[in-house]
Amino acid sequence: MSNFSGFYKLSLEQRLAILKKELSLSDDELILLKNSGSLSLESANTMIENTIGAIHLPLGLAMNFKINGTEKIIPMAIEEPSVIAGASKAAKLCLPDGFTASADPSIMIGQIQLVNVKNPKKAIETLNAKRDEILVLAKKLTESLTKYGGGVQNFKMKLIETNRGEMIIVYFYVNVADAMGANTINTFLEKISPTIAEYTQSEVRLRILSNLATKRMVRAKAVWKKEIIGEETIEKFLDAYEFALNDVYRCATHNKGIMNGIDAVVLATGNDWRAVEAGAHAYAATKEQRKGYTSLTHYEKDEYGDLVGSIELPLAIATVGGAINTLPTAKLALKILGAKSSQDLAMAIACAGLANNFAAMYALSTTGIQEGHMKLHARKNEIKG
Ligand code: MEV
Repeated sequence: MSNFSGFYKLSLEQRLAILKKELSLSDDELILLKNSGSLSLESANTMIENTIGAIHLPLGLAMNFKINGTEKIIPMAIEEPSVIAGASKAAKLCLPDGFTASADPSIMIGQIQLVNVKNPKKAIETLNAKRDEILVLAKKLTESLTKYGGGVQNFKMKLIETNRGEMIIVYFYVNVADAMGANTINTFLEKISPTIAEYTQSEVRLRILSNLATKRMVRAKAVWKKEIIGEETIEKFLDAYEFALNDVYRCATHNKGIMNGIDAVVLATGNDWRAVEAGAHAYAATKEQRKGYTSLTHYEKDEYGDLVGSIELPLAIATVGGAINTLPTAKLALKILGAKSSQDLAMAIACAGLANNFAAMYALSTTGIQEGHMKLHARKNEIKG
């Protein structure tokens, strides 16, 4: 987006003017940005209990992203300096190719816990025998999703041995289209659970979605060329990566740098960042059987000696519903990003996470992290002073 080049050098007024012109923002949208997103107290009051106010976070734009050949501007809501600059720099350094990304369909997992099962083996056999019947009912209960290409897909059972005896967990797989899916899934589980209890001669306990959305994975990849970042840097970078792989204290911080990018886009677009955090860390703890908590990203050298970085994680995010309808800037952020589906948004989020991880590791393995951070702190003090 050449019209946005040097965006960071412009004044706030100039940035807003360019944004309005290039993305054809309405006057209302511009006013919204000028009022720093102001969520009215009345709206805030409809969202949570015991409302007394609202808090604001800066909203900024990460530049230079090219995802699957299309240039993208990525909105980020974050209070920490250097995250947006870091993402923009990482994105610039992998141009002209940019990132490639892919996202699975929006399949969420819902769980029903069955306890006091009279005969667990027989209960599982019965559910298998009644599969077609259960699916007909399940599809009926998720009919509202059909017009969006969603609905229940299938289910499976898992027997777990616990300190309180054997339990059966029924996993339902539901395509929730462009929604996050929590409400849809939980409502569906509550409606179908009496039938499941009856067939299994058991008692139903929990009925809730899983935040480990492993059927809703997103992947992103980029190549940072040795001619651009230097062979020596690549070697140092790979040392830093090994540190994260082999020391959980470092790995937590390494993944925190990834979540800097991920959470900032998740927040800007009105999504549930706690769900994303829970899913990301549960995935990092289980993706490599027996090894324990590990990096969400992967780095290696390709046959040309260039640095290939990739990320894969579950991402339950939405472009419709929930707080997106109430938070005034969420829709605008989605417009700026040009996200037409939850897959588009998921891919941008994954690229931001990879970019921020690259940026942190690049800085840490070369100049040290404080240099960039300090410049911004200095600016803040200037403004204060
Ligand atoms: C700071 O918010 C994030 C970093 O600590 C990430 C990292 O160490 O990789 C710089």
